[in-house]
Amino acid sequence: MRTQVLIVGAGPAGLLLGQLLHRAGIATLIVERQSGDHVLSRIRAGVLEQGTAELMDEAGVGARMRAEGLVHDGFALTVDGQRHRIDLQALTGGRGVIVYGQTEVTRDLMTARAAAGAPTLHEAADVRINDFDTERPRASCVVGGETVHVDADFIAGCDGFHGVCRASVPADAIRLFEKVYPFGWLGLLSDTPPVSDELIYGRHERGFTLCSMRSPTRSRYYLQVPLTERVEDWSDRRFWEELRSRIDPQAAEQLITGPSLEKSIAPLRSFVAEPMRFGRLFLAGDAAHIVPPTGAKGLNLAASDVRYLSQALIEHYRERSSAGIDHYSARCLARVWKAERFSWWLTSLMHNFDAEPGFQARLQQAELDYVLGSEAARRVLAENYVGLPF
Ligand code: APR
Ligand code: PHB
Repeated sequence: MRTQVLIVGAGPAGLLLGQLLHRAGIATLIVERQSGDHVLSRIRAGVLEQGTAELMDEAGVGARMRAEGLVHDGFALTVDGQRHRIDLQALTGGRGVIVYGQTEVTRDLMTARAAAGAPTLHEAADVRINDFDTERPRASCVVGGETVHVDADFIAGCDGFHGVCRASVPADAIRLFEKVYPFGWLGLLSDTPPVSDELIYGRHERGFTLCSMRSPTRSRYYLQVPLTERVEDWSDRRFWEELRSRIDPQAAEQLITGPSLEKSIAPLRSFVAEPMRFGRLFLAGDAAHIVPPTGAKGLNLAASDVRYLSQALIEHYRERSSAGIDHYSARCLARVWKAERFSWWLTSLMHNFDAEPGFQARLQQAELDYVLGSEAARRVLAENYVGLPF
């Protein structure tokens, strides 16, 4: 097979890139290890920056997000049982975020790709990429027992943290930066109304909590747990009791519990690979970087990579200019590192690190007092949360 841009991975990064390129008349082929249903079954975050929402519009897939997504003008931080509102709109000159699940973003993109008749090979095993340091990159995979060979002009590695693309780069051509946190998030999804109409990030001596949502009737909650915890040991009842013990009294009173639709534990990690381009191979999204989920930046960073990459490729095909391609990695990384910094900072601010409170815990307390007491500090938080400019 021959295509212009081979995209490895049909998560939000790969699908959004495919859609933007399709609209510019550039042919893409997506190869994805899993089935479409499997991709849709993964429950991930759900807060879209305005820039991400605008990119969805630009890709022609924004209609359902605009109709069903929840516009949020603020969120809350709960500290010592007291809730403090961060007024995003007032602090950022009118900006906010849209709460719309990544699953729905993916579903809308899959529907658009099917309607466009653009090809995706699902359940593609043993994907290999070759010769991306030459003018003629190649790839192969096995679909239904048959080996498929692909020639492409470019390869986009949108295959997530565990993908094959980053792993195909020679070790001496790539530098990896990583920080692993000593805890994870236990998440629960349920068809119950949220405790509040805005998200609540909570600091508590038993551990961090997040009260989030997918719709007015579907809630998503998270608890900070030690990495040694196993999800099998968390009955729904135990989860709800622990959550209730950590959230503020008003939220506890509003809490409506119900059976879980999904429950899982995710470790927290900060990770960046540099550079993000190797000849004719580009990394985008989780393939190149991971943030802890505290600032809801994962999906938004994937979208911002895809924005730069789609512009670069469109420039290449329309204007025969390599400027966007040459600047891709540096442009992405400048934004990536700012989001890494913010996600690390908010994680450090809101989680419990030590059983015995020491110097670090006192600094955290001082930082919280400062953020809650200073409008300038809250503005810094707000402008990062709604998304820094491109
Ligand atoms: N071959 C083909 N496909 C692969 C391979 C492989 N070797 N390895 C992984 N994939 C697929 C995965 O099955 C998955 O569908 O690549 C896709 C990667 O998707 P995501 O992990 O969702 O990553 P991405 O598209 O970058 O999405 C942005 O940021 O913080 C997160 O939650 C956020 O998942 C979201 C991500
Ligand atoms: C979620 O709803 O899953 C969610 C929201 C905000 C975050 C992280 C996760 O910061």
